[in-house]
Parts: sequence; structure tokens; C-alpha cells
Amino acid sequence: MRILLTGAAGFIGTHIGEVARERGHEVVQLDMFLEKAHGPGPRPDGFARLDLRSDPLDEILQGVDVVCHQAAMVGNGVDAQDLPDYAEHNDAGTARLLAAMARAGVKDLVLASSMVVYGDGRYLCPQDGDVPPAVRRDEDLAAGRYDPRCPVCGGQITWRRIGEDTPFLPRTSYAASKVAQEHYAAAWCTLEEARTIALRYHNVYGPGMPADTPYAGVAAIFRSAIARGEAPRVFEDGQQVRDFVHVRDVARANVLAIEQVAEHPVGLTAYNVASGRTFTIGQMAATLSAAAGGSEPVLTGDYRRFDVRHVVASPEAARTGLGFEAEIGPEEGLAALATDPLRTR
Ligand code: UD1
Repeated sequence: MRILLTGAAGFIGTHIGEVARERGHEVVQLDMFLEKAHGPGPRPDGFARLDLRSDPLDEILQGVDVVCHQAAMVGNGVDAQDLPDYAEHNDAGTARLLAAMARAGVKDLVLASSMVVYGDGRYLCPQDGDVPPAVRRDEDLAAGRYDPRCPVCGGQITWRRIGEDTPFLPRTSYAASKVAQEHYAAAWCTLEEARTIALRYHNVYGPGMPADTPYAGVAAIFRSAIARGEAPRVFEDGQQVRDFVHVRDVARANVLAIEQVAEHPVGLTAYNVASGRTFTIGQMAATLSAAAGGSEPVLTGDYRRFDVRHVVASPEAARTGLGFEAEIGPEEGLAALATDPLRTR
């Protein structure tokens, strides 16, 4: 297949390109080398340097079978001043790409989405059943009461694995733009009788992660701390639950989606992409520190108001719908992350 891969020079895009080529596909690599992500400096060959917001896309789409759209501003953002950048790169960039795909007659899209579309996730209350958690209050967080409460009775609740039908509840600029991308793709599917597979990634880590920036996730932040000889600094009580999924598994999920999107029904189908294994942030920090032979993680007791407490997805639909199962477990993958190279450009 001829695949147009956007964000091909990024952390996840690089691995998708490798796996796709290993499986015999032709990969057309597009990347704008956003300076916030890649820093300044010389750019490697082999990439079409196009900006989805403004450059013509018709020529590069000629003869393409599937678009795999990874290009995006990622991370939590720094503050509200980042909102226009998320909207322009992620929302408007995607809308322009979809319009160009319609002109070129390309009907199949694999879209990088994220578990952040679910916001705080879902919990089980012994009294009120399946509920979204109440928003955590500053006074509770400051007093070290990190677990959210039932929005109805205020009682204790337990997190549950969420499926793809969980309502959207975006809490950050990035999350809002990922929800928007899914909505634009769904609208394009209706207009064009086209197909989209949206892959909602959990916490992706592995070789080639970008070094610590204000837009980096916790795995990159801890990995960068270790590279500087510092201890990982764990927020809250370290008991926050996540699902860490290796980038090589995420790349395989993308290539499976690329190969199967044409057999999916018209419209958007979403799959969680997760390892299916839960790990706390504290466990993750300890695994990295131990593997690096560095200092023990520090529990700072700090918190960030926008953070979600626990979010864990069900990997079941990806298993039945795509035949995807993660192969690299967090113990093995996170220990290797201690020495995996960070991306330098
Ligand atoms: C992360 C990504 C998000 C992505 C999602 C799924 C970022 C910033 N967030 O969300 O874009 O869509 O995974 O792949 O890239 N923490 C610490 N110490 C630190 C930093 C964070 O303990 O120095 C804690 C936070 O308090 C939080 C947890 O680690 O509880 C995860 O933080 P982070 O990786 O930023 O965000 P996610 O919500 O997991």
C-alpha cells in the first residue's frame, strides 16, 4: 500500500514508518518539523516539509491509498495562550487535510487520537453505579485527598476500565483538539462515504521519546531527569493509575489499522490502544530509577489541577476489531526506557 504518513519525523510517526516499511508498504513521509517539538537546526532528508495549515496538499496525495495522520501539537499545553496553536495545527490542519483527501479521492484514514478524550474516565459508586468522578477540589488536593468522589453522593468510588463508548470529557486544549479531530473525521466520512479508524493511545513511551519540554508526558520527563542524573519527581501520592503502552506496539496497531481500514464500515471506528496492564506513576518511576541505577524517586506531594487521577481503558475492542494485542509489558519496556535513546532533533 502507498501510505501518506503525517508527523513522520515525530516520536510515534518514526516507529510507524519503520513497521510499515518492514511489512512491505511504501511510506510517503510528511512533517513540518515544528520547532516547539523538534528544536532548531538541520533537518533530515526523506521528508516532504509541508505545513498542513497552509501548504498545498493535492500533489502529495496522488496515488495514496491510506492517510495515517499523526501530525499534531501534543502534550498538555502550557497555558491558555497555547489554545490558538492547538486549534490551528490540530483542528484546522486536519480539516484541510480531509478536504484535500476528498479532492484526491482518498477514502481511508487512520487518525492518532488519545485517551485524553475521556477526561477523568469513569468510576463505580457502590450507591450510584457508573459515574464520571466529581471535579477534584483544590482544598482536597492540598490536603492530600487525591482520589475523586462520587458526583452524586460524595462517597468513595473506584476506577473502572473504560470502553470506546465512554462520553467525551476533554479537559485540556490538546484533549479538545483531539475530540475535534475525531468529529471532523466523522463528518468527512459522512460526506465522502469514507472510513476512519481513530486510535486512542494511552501513555506511549519507548526509544526516541522527545526530551523534556513543557509539552512532554511523564515518561519523557522522568527519562530526561534520569539522563541528567536526577531523581524522578512524583506528584500526588504516586498512586495514579495509567496504562503505559510501548511505541513499537502503538506502531503495530497503526499498521494493522492501515491494512484493515478499507474493510471497516463507512464512518469512524475508535479503538483504545493500551497494553491492558495497569501501572501506577510511583511504580513507573521506581522501575525506571532501579533500571538506571539512579536515585530513588522523590514523592513531592505537588499536584496539577488539570491532571486526571486515574484513567485506564479496555483493550478488548482493539483485540476483536483489529487483532491487536500489546507484546511489550510495562516491566520490560519501562526498564529498557532507562537506557533507550531520547530524540535529539
Ligand atoms: C499523557 C499525555 C497526553 C496523552 C496521554 C495518553 C502529556 C503531557 N500528556 O496524559 O497528551 O494523550 O498521556 O497518551 O503528554 N506526573 C508526575 N511528575 C511529573 C509529571 C507528571 O508525577 O513530573 C504525574 C501527573 O501528576 C499525572 C501523571 O504523572 O498524574 C501523568 O502525567 P502526564 O503524562 O503529564 O499526563 P497524562 O494524563 O497521563
